[in-house]
Amino acid sequence: MRVDVVSIFPDYLAPLDLSLVGKARTAGLLDLRVHDLRDWTTDRHRTVDDTPFGGGAGMVMRPDVWGRALDDVLDDGAHLLLPTPSGAPLTQRTAEALAGEQHLVVACGRYEGIDARVAEHYATRPGVTVSEFSIGDYVLNGGEVAALVLVEAVARLLPGVVGNPESLVEESHGAAGLLEYPVFTKPPSWAELDVPEVLLSGHHARIARWRRDQALLRTAARRPDMLDALAADPGAFDAHDL
Ligand code: ADE
Repeated sequence: MRVDVVSIFPDYLAPLDLSLVGKARTAGLLDLRVHDLRDWTTDRHRTVDDTPFGGGAGMVMRPDVWGRALDDVLDDGAHLLLPTPSGAPLTQRTAEALAGEQHLVVACGRYEGIDARVAEHYATRPGVTVSEFSIGDYVLNGGEVAALVLVEAVARLLPGVVGNPESLVEESHGAAGLLEYPVFTKPPSWAELDVPEVLLSGHHARIARWRRDQALLRTAARRPDMLDALAADPGAFDAHDL
């Protein structure tokens, strides 16, 4: 998969050299390129923003600068992703769908955002898909952290990136639509807390049942909305995933 990220703070994306995403890049599973938006400015001050039409606080990113950048970076079949707090929520389902694509381009806005004509213009370009996405109901200073989140969520789903693909099946927001059960390792007793007896029993069916119960209890306590979603769409619920 190819991913291009365009930002006025390319250094913000440095963590993508590390850990699993960094290894995926080294292994050639992910071709990730980070660009400085200011490379597409034409004035001495390398200006990327201006005051909003209609007045109001803050600055808006200019469509002409973004247009030059995106004309260079977007190719046929690319998916343009615009992080914004007013976008559609990024979910595990979104990440799964994006992991099946060939080319993602993430355009990181700053200030009050990118001139709205940029999304509108590229949405009409044949062969290009445009999505505005949010990583949560809070406001960040720019799209870079959201781009990090998106790239990590997608890259770990690419074949060969996570060593044991089984670990993708049981995790929170996985196919079962539940939060993950609690996990434990050695030592069996720590800080006067014991690992649940059943996990030491070696009884696979009992362990599987305990984990399913814990996943349901946790989801009910922390994310009742997820249980509501399962109840509304029981077809999404597959007992084999538990
Ligand atoms: N930019 C600023 N806040 C954001 C958010 N919550 N999600 C995505 N992009 C953003």
